[in-house]
Amino acid sequence: MSRTILIAGGNSGIGLETVRQLRQQPDTRIVCAVRNPGPLADFDDVETFPFDATDSDPDLSGLPDSLDGFVYFPGTIHLKPFHRFTDDDFLADLQVNFLGAVRLLRASLPALKSADRAGIVFFSTVAVGTGLQFHTSIAAAKGALEAFSRSLAAELAPKIRVNAIAPSLTDSPLASNLLGTDDKVEASKKRHPLHQVGNPADFAKAVIYLLGDDSRFMTGQVLTLDGGLSRLRLL
Ligand SMILES: NC(=O)c1ccc[n+]([C@@H]2O[C@H](COP(=O)([O-])OP(=O)(O)OC[C@H]3O[C@@H](n4cnc5c(N)ncnc54)[C@H](OP(=O)(O)O)[C@@H]3O)[C@@H](O)[C@H]2O)c1
Repeated sequence: MSRTILIAGGNSGIGLETVRQLRQQPDTRIVCAVRNPGPLADFDDVETFPFDATDSDPDLSGLPDSLDGFVYFPGTIHLKPFHRFTDDDFLADLQVNFLGAVRLLRASLPALKSADRAGIVFFSTVAVGTGLQFHTSIAAAKGALEAFSRSLAAELAPKIRVNAIAPSLTDSPLASNLLGTDDKVEASKKRHPLHQVGNPADFAKAVIYLLGDDSRFMTGQVLTLDGGLSRLRLL
């Protein structure tokens, strides 16, 4: 049986790696909602339509009629001390990380409901469950997304499952400033009990797991993939 997956932001980092892995899955149609196709233009089996998460009234006429999966990748990483964040900074993070997801999902819901069963996956951050310096704005925006995700899981059960993934620092364009030198990479690895930073391929596998039947008993959860950062203290 074929399935259609909508990916918001599949042109970079974890999203692009997820598209690469989904293309290897049998009978999977991939439709990406992106600001610009970028490397997706090289994949003639991947459809794209324009989507900007900050647009309050996006043209979503490119959405498929039926959807088996929905994954939302758009995100930001603005880190600074709380006293330097303005209201506009907080609103900008909420727009991309939370309200963009709300709008795209609202428009996609009829298509998701028309499938026999469907999966939704959001991207949070380890900074929601663990207090990290300079993360007030992104933690608040992703915290809204996590709470939304859990409520939605209750509302859409049993046909539609809703889960989130919470990464810690991961080697993608988003984190390029934080991992821009060998010293920064080594220091970041050392902060993780597993002495690694995140690899987009591991998150792509988690997305595929959450979209598929292997996770059929799981909804309303946040899968934290963080090299042990949030739970372990090494003595
Ligand atoms: N990398 C990390 O360390 C890390 C840690 C915790 C959580 N996360 C979360 O993981 C998710 C994936 O991030 P990533 O690491 O793969 O970063 P990435 O490579 O920078 O990808 C971010 C994606 O978001 C899209 N995006 C940003 N602003 C957008 C907007 N206004 N409208 C539409 N799309 C927009 C980007 O598209 P453009 O190419 O158009 O900009 C890009 O496709 C994000 O939600 C992020 O918050 C990442």
